[in-house]
Amino acid sequence: MDLTTTYLGLTLKNPLVASSCSLTGTPEGAQKLEAAEFAALVVRSIFEEDLSRIGDSHLANVRAIREAVTIPVIASVNCRIHGSWGVFAKAIEATGVAAIELNLYDIPGNATETSAQIEARQLDLVRQAVASTRLPVSVKISPFYTALIPFCRGLQDSGAKGIVVFNRFMQPDINTETGHLRFNANFSTSNDLRLPLRWTAILRDQLTIDIALTGGVHTADDVLQALLVGANVVCPCSVLYQRPNDNPASEMLNGIKAWLARKGHQQISEFRGSMRTTGFGDRSGFERAHYVKTLSSVR
Ligand SMILES: Cc1cc2nc3c(=O)[nH]c(=O)nc-3n(C[C@H](O)[C@H](O)[C@H](O)COP(=O)(O)O)c2cc1C
Repeated sequence: MDLTTTYLGLTLKNPLVASSCSLTGTPEGAQKLEAAEFAALVVRSIFEEDLSRIGDSHLANVRAIREAVTIPVIASVNCRIHGSWGVFAKAIEATGVAAIELNLYDIPGNATETSAQIEARQLDLVRQAVASTRLPVSVKISPFYTALIPFCRGLQDSGAKGIVVFNRFMQPDINTETGHLRFNANFSTSNDLRLPLRWTAILRDQLTIDIALTGGVHTADDVLQALLVGANVVCPCSVLYQRPNDNPASEMLNGIKAWLARKGHQQISEFRGSMRTTGFGDRSGFERAHYVKTLSSVR
């Protein structure tokens, strides 16, 4: 049975890519993920704010991670706006990573910047990054765009080779006794898959570039749903923190293989994208009609 997939021009032995987080941030962590059968990993992001301060040590760490494993390693930069970050992209390239993921983590709190200006600024950043490296660039985005399809097409036109849907925003939480903010990583459940699933299904028909789905991937069934709507790869994260003593990746792969066997498939390409939006003639699968049908079915 062949679980091979392609992502950003890379051929991966299976569709599981360990998502960027602290577990992907050390050579030892990377080795564990490779042993757990992940086909690739995205290194913990460096933040734009830290580029000048820890840029060099981060690069050394990325190189060490790359040398510690045989699977493709993707570097990640968490950025908002930075005129010179293109220089950094060049330096990342020298570490031997296979690709760069740009994480556009941006909370638009400027009352005078319009959605069109924000998007233009972000697309400019992507163009800068693409122009400054020969590596394939993917862009990790939030779901909070006024019009996601044109924006993603803009990313494609700017030279991105893939999009990663969606970044998990760490939403605020207040301790009402102490009056302080709590800084908890809000881990996901499989229920969080619904949002990226819908948008992968919709975007798959609108773009030619790759789609990585991240958010709520915990089980084999979650991975299969992502593949059915057209994802090239999935990027789990929370499940790795929640089940540190198990091997969820291996469970996912076994579950996928069992499903393929039950359905008589030999490879992922036979069914990938079969449930994307145009798989439903009237687009009722994922858009307004889905909402109407869902609400009407509740008694
Ligand atoms: C503790 C933690 C750290 C994370 N660090 C990063 C990071 O450095 N860069 C990044 O792009 N995403 C980061 N993420 C987001 C994950 O890579 C992932 O996209 C997101 O959590 C959704 O996947 P999940 O539902 O499986 O957790 C982090 C998430 C968690 C929970």
